[in-house]
Amino acid sequence: MPSHVREVSRIHRIASIPGDGIGVDITDAAVEILNVLAKTIGGFEFEFTTFDWSSKKFLERGWYMPPDGLEQLKKFDAIYFGAVGWPDVPDHISLWGLILPIRKSLNQYVNVRPTRILEGTKSPLADCQREDLDWVIIRENSEGEYSGQGGTSHESSPHTVATEVSIFTRVGIERIMRFAFETARSRPRKKLTMVTKSNAQRHGMVLWDTVFYEVAKEYGDVEIDKMLVDAMTVRMVLQPKSLDTIVATNLHADILSDLAAALSGSIGIAPSSNLDPTRANPSMFEPIHGSAPDIAGKGIANPVGAFWSAAEMVRWVGEEKAADGLMKAVENVTARGVKTKDLGGGEDTKGVTKAVCQEIETLF
Ligand code: NAI
Ligand code: MG
Repeated sequence: MPSHVREVSRIHRIASIPGDGIGVDITDAAVEILNVLAKTIGGFEFEFTTFDWSSKKFLERGWYMPPDGLEQLKKFDAIYFGAVGWPDVPDHISLWGLILPIRKSLNQYVNVRPTRILEGTKSPLADCQREDLDWVIIRENSEGEYSGQGGTSHESSPHTVATEVSIFTRVGIERIMRFAFETARSRPRKKLTMVTKSNAQRHGMVLWDTVFYEVAKEYGDVEIDKMLVDAMTVRMVLQPKSLDTIVATNLHADILSDLAAALSGSIGIAPSSNLDPTRANPSMFEPIHGSAPDIAGKGIANPVGAFWSAAEMVRWVGEEKAADGLMKAVENVTARGVKTKDLGGGEDTKGVTKAVCQEIETLF
């Protein structure tokens, strides 16, 4: 090609929302890694637009997102999110001011949360080897316990009444079940465990069970079983090898995925993808952890969950080779013992980020 003809690059337009606390540090790290990845591999670029929607800004101006915030986000190919929440703002205000409206309004009804023990790291479980824990949790992300229905009456009186209504719809359950079965089918073990609490909760949870068995008929090649959520915590700890793909409600999967992350080494490594599988809206990628005010500003947050989330975003926008390469680079680095404190290492956020950048340049 003549030198004056510039090779046309695929451009992926990313909305970046760093948010609060360590969300800012790990988003900076992820953006740095993604730019190095694109530059090293070539053929594609990321174009980032940063939105300063955070609790700090909320305290200054009284809003998280402007009225046309969701419309602005719709113009992007994907959204990269750090974390939201700060001690000066009640957590239900920050979550409902930013992350939950994005997930709900952009039809991101699936939340995919993979967990495994990365190379060079170990589980806090004494007998759990790397090959014993390799799960994908599929979380219903649009309704259930986080549907936002309910209210408070007689506030500030001794007779206050508060309701928090869980909403379960056949349409909502069926679409998450189908996604979960497809995920299970795509993995070598073809195994799906469905979690509810249908012994004590006899309406919505029973509908979950019913729809699960209905959809299962279309997936005869997928082995299935059903767990109550309390017993599931025991099974995750005592028989991790017996699990593969897991589907659960918004609340249950939120809790189980923090446990899953801890069992695989640290909450700091765990990624999540908030997907609109129809692709009518951009999907959003974020580590599962929060803003971690206890370590914010110290430069010691583990950026691995942010990198893994970035890799899932790269895969979603169609750069399969780059996604695999990024994960390989991350694991080569952890394998060498370059890790933050939460994983038993001695590096800080910048140290791990630099090591992953160098590894990407070595790999490609
Ligand atoms: P958290 O996940 O922020 O922190 C829990 C514990 O894990 C802390 O001890 C923290 O230091 C540690 N930790 C978390 N991420 C880490 C990392 N990358 N490296 C090393 N250690 C890490 O959960 P917490 O404390 O319950 O919530 C803090 C704030 O974050 C709250 O305002 C909460 O509402 C918000 N939050 C926001 C989320 C989001 O934006 N999607 C998700 C979860 C919580
Ligand atoms: Mg959570």
